[in-house]
Amino acid sequence: MTLNQYAIWFATLMVASLGFEMPLHALGNRPLAVLQNQKEDTLRKAFHKSFAMGAAIPGAELNAAERRLLFANFNTVTPENCMKPLSLHPKEGRFRFAKADALVEMAHANGLAVNGHALLWHKQCPDWFFMEDGQQAGRERVLQRLRTHIATVAGHFAGKVQSWDVVNEAIDDKDEYLRKSKWLTSIGEDFIAEAFIVAHKADPKAELYYNDYSIERRPKRDKALRLIRDLKQRGAPIHGIGIQGHWALDSIPFQDIEDAILAFHSEGMKVAITELDIDVGKRKTDGADVGRLERVRADLFANGLPADVQQRLADQYAQLFALFLKHQDKITRVTFWGLHDGRSWLNGWPFQRTNHPLFWDRDLQAKPALSAVLALTRKKADKNPQPMAIGDSKLSPQP
Ligand code: XIL
Repeated sequence: MTLNQYAIWFATLMVASLGFEMPLHALGNRPLAVLQNQKEDTLRKAFHKSFAMGAAIPGAELNAAERRLLFANFNTVTPENCMKPLSLHPKEGRFRFAKADALVEMAHANGLAVNGHALLWHKQCPDWFFMEDGQQAGRERVLQRLRTHIATVAGHFAGKVQSWDVVNEAIDDKDEYLRKSKWLTSIGEDFIAEAFIVAHKADPKAELYYNDYSIERRPKRDKALRLIRDLKQRGAPIHGIGIQGHWALDSIPFQDIEDAILAFHSEGMKVAITELDIDVGKRKTDGADVGRLERVRADLFANGLPADVQQRLADQYAQLFALFLKHQDKITRVTFWGLHDGRSWLNGWPFQRTNHPLFWDRDLQAKPALSAVLALTRKKADKNPQPMAIGDSKLSPQP
């Protein structure tokens, strides 16, 4: 071995050994967390000091790859359908908890919290709640059923769910204050307060949310503020507002979203983004009224998302998350409505098509939107480099 060869061999050995045990001073001024993130960033790690990251899932029946994706990136789940009245309580007095129980068990076994969805909704709610002897049931009867349903369900999951969407979509889309649902016409306006009171009694530790779509925009935002005040006046324990966040590419109402977060917060509410997705296709229907279907239109992106659309999706997700980070002191949780594109409800609503609204595609490959959003947390760390103390919670196992 020549002297030169020896020098190269020695240098290689030194570099290799440095790679195994990088001394702290070799990291320069960059915080350790940033370097760590570049290698193995996941959503829950990147945002765990800001807010919880969630995904809606159908139940425990996920395949192994989906489970890996879920457990690595999220620390909370919402059942997409299996805690709605139709699933849990299809016939009066007959509760079916098995599917929801399995979901809760899987979540807890893997360190994820559960947000219950939804104690009361006008959709996916069986008709028996409102009928008696073939006729419309009277107020007292429907109220008693509401109380029994919520007391039983919230009682069953007490201590197992962190929060509940107590009432879903009760605000009217047009000129009225409240939606003319069977809950409203059978009981009256106080059905919402009743729901919160009974839920709180059954599970005093759960955070209780009112959840709806398009409440970031006027006039629904003003009606949501009115509802918060109404509930407080009636002594109903409401802790937060869920902005569903079913938005559409190129028309996300950023300013309205910010104004709504501030307005709900100034009423003392926590704010959660509960059902986030960005529809990439064209549709006529605004918001997320599941009852409104459109006649079949072209399946624009059946063969994948063109690069320019993919880029706009990434940019707009990044803009949204920049806003959420700006208001992280007011936001408790950001939950996506689905784990990956193949499981999104937007493939079937408001008409059948191939949609691409989430961070992972049908093959569970991460999309540029994920990188764009993760990059925000690195930029934040770069701006305020904090010397990393040994044992800093960023590197500790997640809750
Ligand atoms: C949707 C589910 O994703 C679908 O599988 C189901 O067929 C209809 O409901 N707002 C809500 C959610 O609060 O419960 C809805 O979920 C989507 C709109």
